[in-house]
Amino acid sequence: MLLSPAAERNKDALLQVLKDLLDTDRELFGLELGSGTGQHVIHFAQELPFVTWQPSEISSSAHESICSYITATKLTNVLQPVYLNIEDHWENWAGLPKSSCDVVLCINLLHFCPFRTIQNIFKGAGELLKIGGLLLTYGVSHNAEKSLHFRNPEWGLPDTDVLRQLGYENAMRLERMVRIVFKKCFSCLTFLCNRFVHLTELKLKVCTSTASELFHLQFIVVMYRTKIREKLSLSEYLWT
Ligand SMILES: C[S@@+](CC[C@H](N)C(=O)[O-])C[C@H]1O[C@@H](n2cnc3c(N)ncnc32)[C@H](O)[C@@H]1O
Repeated sequence: MLLSPAAERNKDALLQVLKDLLDTDRELFGLELGSGTGQHVIHFAQELPFVTWQPSEISSSAHESICSYITATKLTNVLQPVYLNIEDHWENWAGLPKSSCDVVLCINLLHFCPFRTIQNIFKGAGELLKIGGLLLTYGVSHNAEKSLHFRNPEWGLPDTDVLRQLGYENAMRLERMVRIVFKKCFSCLTFLCNRFVHLTELKLKVCTSTASELFHLQFIVVMYRTKIREKLSLSEYLWT
């Protein structure tokens, strides 16, 4: 059973972000990428019992550690870890189907990745999340980036604007940015999957002919965008 002091330090701050953002009135499914020791997934499973967590890792020692935590805590809402390489195409991510996840966690991972892998993670999260699902990333900011760059010149957390754009390209909107300071400054970003609105917007732009129609339909989309979080369906919204 491995122990990461960093995970012990940041797990409560990250839990608070999840508590603020997750629906508590239904069963959810969460995937963690690069679970490491397993401390986060275990902590979140204890505190958020309505979420079934799927840890994943590339390393066999991490798998052993996660399994030991599951056995020791007897948690029933953490599945056995699966092999998942974030560099693989998302369709090979442990066979998880499209739109199967309510949450994807990516903690302390992005800043150890080259940009192409970060692009792959955003692509995968965009495909695996359900509409309204949440991608949470946590990584160290530029202050500590020099040492990372020294370890591997390809690594480093991109600017928030670059991550916002990656989110947008994969139908996810940057929702929240929380700064967490433990000597260094870390940022926790959350992205909301809005694939349906994304596609609807495009479709409406193509289908509408007059400026007034376009204005009206864009107004509906903007209103629907705000209503999505209140879980109204489009038809419900149009008739209210
Ligand atoms: C810095 S650790 C973070 C672990 C954990 N998320 C935490 O915050 O404590 C990065 C983890 O990513 C895993 N990892 C590295 N390359 C990976 C890859 N290509 N696919 C999946 N996981 C990978 C490593 O095995 C390691 O456990």
